[in-house]
Amino acid sequence: MLTVDDLSKTYADGTRALSSIDLSVQQGEIVALIGGSGCGKTTLLRLIAGLDQASQGAVQVDGETIRAPHPSVGVVFQEPRLLPWLDVAGNVGFGLADLPRSERRARVTHALERVGLAEHGGRWPRELSGGQQQRVAIARAFVARPRVLLLDEPFSALDAFTRKGLHEQLLDLWAESKPTILIVTHDVGEAVTLADRVVVMRPRPGRLDETVPIGLARPREPVAATYEDAVRRVLAALDHSLRPASANRPAAPETRASWW
Ligand SMILES: Nc1ncnc2c1ncn2[C@@H]1O[C@H](COP(=O)(O)OP(=O)(O)O)[C@@H](O)[C@H]1O
Ligand SMILES: [Mg+2]
Repeated sequence: MLTVDDLSKTYADGTRALSSIDLSVQQGEIVALIGGSGCGKTTLLRLIAGLDQASQGAVQVDGETIRAPHPSVGVVFQEPRLLPWLDVAGNVGFGLADLPRSERRARVTHALERVGLAEHGGRWPRELSGGQQQRVAIARAFVARPRVLLLDEPFSALDAFTRKGLHEQLLDLWAESKPTILIVTHDVGEAVTLADRVVVMRPRPGRLDETVPIGLARPREPVAATYEDAVRRVLAALDHSLRPASANRPAAPETRASWW
């Protein structure tokens, strides 16, 4: 239902951020994008969100070409990007101005419950911790009921404990309406916890490298042998993505870029 067809992006300064990306994601599928810094992950999400124009190729959601920000496509960034002059409930309901007031209120209340902030609707963003603010951003994305939800390193500024709670809340919300999710992460454990498959990217120019299917039942326990095996497979794919395209033996350590 989300299709990316031969997508390329070259910035005005000549940087080839993406080269000929093909990706097809099923309704309700969760795909993690992982790869070294600068391999075009944010560029790819921005193009899918309609926040920037491709140099070549197209993005379609349910057959509709995305050329500008679209109500079917929601985005959560690394920073919560809340509006400081609105309270928490106001931020979550901000995009629902067209809905009747009772419906808006019901959706906001439900989403805030789901992210554990039922008591916090009247607070100001500045009164919340970083993890709470990101919960508000996730609630705001879900209340609009997007068909596709894009998350660009949404948890990377948070501590591991907070992150684990947010993984569970994200999966709970996902289970209700099953949007297609594309999540960029630097964290292999996060990718294996959340995704149906992990797509590894390669830089200069940014392109897709290997795809690692995860195929584990949820909820996933990091102590399970099958989970550890999935982590090892993603790490191997990442390692491969850091080698020159032509090399079939590992590059010397000093020539290998670090991906974290
Ligand atoms: N607005 C821009 N103008 C020029 N180059 C850019 C711009 N945005 C990103 N780039 C470059 O494009 C490449 C991919 O960037 P980005 O998509 O941010 O990668 P990632 O999110 O994987 O770290 C990098 O080389 C980056 O420096
Ligand atoms: Mg990025």
